[in-house]
Amino acid sequence: MAGVTAPRTAPLPIVALDVGSLADAQRLVRQLGPATTFYKVGLQLFSAEGPRAVEWLHGEGKRVFLDLKLHDIPNTVRGAAASAGALGVSLLTVHALGGAAMLRAAVEGAAGRTNIMAVTVLTSMDAATLARSMGHPTEIAGEVLRLAQEACDAQTHGIVCAGTECAAVRARFGDALQPLVPGLRPAGGAAHDQSRVVTAAEAARAGAAYVIFGRAVTAAADPVGAYATLAAELQPAAQEKS
Ligand code: C5P
Repeated sequence: MAGVTAPRTAPLPIVALDVGSLADAQRLVRQLGPATTFYKVGLQLFSAEGPRAVEWLHGEGKRVFLDLKLHDIPNTVRGAAASAGALGVSLLTVHALGGAAMLRAAVEGAAGRTNIMAVTVLTSMDAATLARSMGHPTEIAGEVLRLAQEACDAQTHGIVCAGTECAAVRARFGDALQPLVPGLRPAGGAAHDQSRVVTAAEAARAGAAYVIFGRAVTAAADPVGAYATLAAELQPAAQEKS
């Protein structure tokens, strides 16, 4: 499929609520204030608090990305996606490695109420880790594009990939797949457990539709300032897209 040439809007920033209680999430959301409108609820918070974390965010007028990275048999994933759809979350993740039938089941289960995002190769993986998992040397970019094709065939809304592969995904799939890019760091910032990190500007330039601000915001001494600095990089960089 040909790449798009239309001017690209800036990626939507999503702040990851990687905390262990609703009280901690509420503190962070109140601190960040009205400028932040989209939050990720992931495995840690959802395991601790369940749907009430999502319901509280919706009550505050925020959108929710439910990052559960589902990877199970199609029937189970269809049901989980239907439950997420009933909760009204905007985005839900499943692993692309779950296969074509599982991806289609997720899209069917969500029934247009929730957008399905297929995780390709985790941003924490480098070439050596991927080779060990796959059992043979595997080029990361090629594997991301292969899994993105599976996702595109199943008509997911988008994929999750590192910023380092985002431009290649956009070049191949254009607007048919919306890339969500986690693993953002300020230039020279600590990578933590991530391997394939980029700056917010690099992600925007590469054509990300969504970016995740995790520890770069939530572990900053001044989360409000860190969010504003990162968010300000997005619009100008998106217009410089390669
Ligand atoms: O703190 P940091 O910026 O590393 O957080 C990245 C966030 O993005 C985490 O919430 C993590 O679960 C999520 N994520 C990721 N890689 C993926 C999918 C989601 O890092 N492939």
